[in-house]
Amino acid sequence: MEDPQKDPAAPRRSQARGGTLQRGRRPRELGASVGTGPPAQDGAALQARARSFGAVAASYAVLRPIYPADAVEFLVGRDPALDVLDVGAGTGLLSEVVVGLGHRVRAVDPAPEMLAQLAARLPAVATAVGAAESLPVDDGSVDVVVAGQAAHWFDPGPAAREIRRVLRGSGVVGFIWNTRDVRVPWVAALEGAIADESRGHEADQRVVDLMAAELDADVEVVESAIVQRVSPEDVVAGIGTRSYVALMDDAARDEFLSGIRALLAGHPDTCGRAQLELPYRTHAYRLTPR
Ligand SMILES: C[S@@+](CC[C@H](N)C(=O)[O-])C[C@H]1O[C@@H](n2cnc3c(N)ncnc32)[C@H](O)[C@@H]1O
Repeated sequence: MEDPQKDPAAPRRSQARGGTLQRGRRPRELGASVGTGPPAQDGAALQARARSFGAVAASYAVLRPIYPADAVEFLVGRDPALDVLDVGAGTGLLSEVVVGLGHRVRAVDPAPEMLAQLAARLPAVATAVGAAESLPVDDGSVDVVVAGQAAHWFDPGPAAREIRRVLRGSGVVGFIWNTRDVRVPWVAALEGAIADESRGHEADQRVVDLMAAELDADVEVVESAIVQRVSPEDVVAGIGTRSYVALMDDAARDEFLSGIRALLAGHPDTCGRAQLELPYRTHAYRLTPR
């Protein structure tokens, strides 16, 4: 299994796992939010955003952070080898870690361009175009369903019904998100610069509670962390893979990304630096249907 930490051909993917796992258990409760909740959005806009990833597939694979193995292991375990379905698998950043833990992975995503990137990197992973609300997977055929940075795109009711259908009796569901760590001053400044544009577009982890309710599941959560070693231009380009940026017209995108570039060039913690350490907090949620 390719280890991106050791792959000299992928220096831009240099990342360090720096997390201390913190565990917690959340009782099932509707309405509690652990993320910044988006305003209500109409279905067409949401669909457009959810479908925006194909256009940035190649950049996505190298510019987005991977997931810390300890948090992924919390979701899927290590032994014995399980059948794991990665939904919204994209370019395979989560699949790769799950494969590295010894599991058999199948990947589903609505964007064929994203799956093409995944297939090139992870030829052992079977891929299928599909969506969480209509999974191209047999009944009772997987032990774990996981979603990385993706479950907030799912329609909770239909997706939960599909997940329940494909899971074996004792199966579990794992959702994981990396979010930029705004406790670091320059990251907070970055977040401030993109707040207006990204509001309502970033991961909305309230879906955990909605899914838990639909699945009648208990929820456990761990927090970990990962650091991406990237150039300032990688930071700019990584923000360019966000759905809200991908959907801007060319002029608006250029202006927006120029603002990010200027911020990094001017902030005392980032100016003049060829390489930055971009820290992320990782939250991994394990849902166990009762
Ligand atoms: C932010 S990317 C995450 C990709 C990958 N899991 C990762 O960790 O890098 C979100 C992915 O969700 C997919 N997606 C959007 N709506 C979806 C849906 N309803 N069902 C399944 N996947 C969906 C997108 O095509 C995209 O590849």
